[in-house]
Amino acid sequence: MTALMVAAARAIETHRHDALARDVYAEHFVHAAPASAGWPVRMQQVPDGDANPLWGRFARYFGLRTRVLDDFLLRSVHTGSARQVVLLGAGLDSRAFRLDWPPGCVIFEIDREGVLAFKHKVLNRLSATPKAARVPIPIDLRADWAGALADAGFDTAAPSVWLAEGLLFYLPPAAETYLIDTVDRLSAGGSALAFEVKLEKDLLEYRDSPLYTSTKHQLGIDLLNLFDREPRPDSAGDLASQGWSTSVRTPFDFTRHHGRGPLPEQNDALAGNRWVFADKPRR
Ligand SMILES: C[S@@+](CC[C@H](N)C(=O)[O-])C[C@H]1O[C@@H](n2cnc3c(N)ncnc32)[C@H](O)[C@@H]1O
Repeated sequence: MTALMVAAARAIETHRHDALARDVYAEHFVHAAPASAGWPVRMQQVPDGDANPLWGRFARYFGLRTRVLDDFLLRSVHTGSARQVVLLGAGLDSRAFRLDWPPGCVIFEIDREGVLAFKHKVLNRLSATPKAARVPIPIDLRADWAGALADAGFDTAAPSVWLAEGLLFYLPPAAETYLIDTVDRLSAGGSALAFEVKLEKDLLEYRDSPLYTSTKHQLGIDLLNLFDREPRPDSAGDLASQGWSTSVRTPFDFTRHHGRGPLPEQNDALAGNRWVFADKPRR
């Protein structure tokens, strides 16, 4: 359901005249699932338009996040030598189909079986063709996903680019730490990683934020119940202590950079969101 919600947000962003990112597949996912078939896929279908906290500001947030992480991935593969890309908790991410990858790129997509099966059904019906080699890995991230990745052809001796978008706050702290440690272990020098975290103090402090309440009332998705409530690990700090260079940014930094996107407001569920970018130096 959360993957569908992000897909609906990307569909709405796609149809904006000043879209930050375009994903022509997103609306097909939304229409194909009975649970989301009635959700809007363009702003004209939202009666209160941009004033709607979910389909206005929150959807724009996902549009901005998509753009920033598109840019991160493309910059990483076009300026470095990494040709392996791993999307952790890939959900309905269609980057393998919509971004211009350099020759030789392989995109590994890890998510649970049901999510990837639904994604394939929709993309097959559209006869969508990936723009890079694409390797779906249906596995739960609490299982031995590193083994599954190796079996699928991932090469630890070559640099890689990793993305955990909209994922880590659903995982227990030990699972997040294991995931980050595993990415470090599997990453050769010259690898890059981007991920999103939420500062824990904000979770319940902003429980009445319009973003949370509108998501619950309009979609029946209670994000605060899905997020793990235990104290969060300092994954950026852990990577830095392993020698990675890291930069921690707020979404609002990028809103200012692009001249559009969400800005800070009172009682804001986005106040604790951070986007972390990390590079592993070559030895
Ligand atoms: C909010 S969606 C984000 C999807 C995608 N990264 C995006 O931004 O569009 C979260 C995704 O994480 C996946 N996920 C959550 N917990 C997982 C787990 N334990 N193992 C594998 N995937 C998981 C869900 O199935 C879902 O597709």
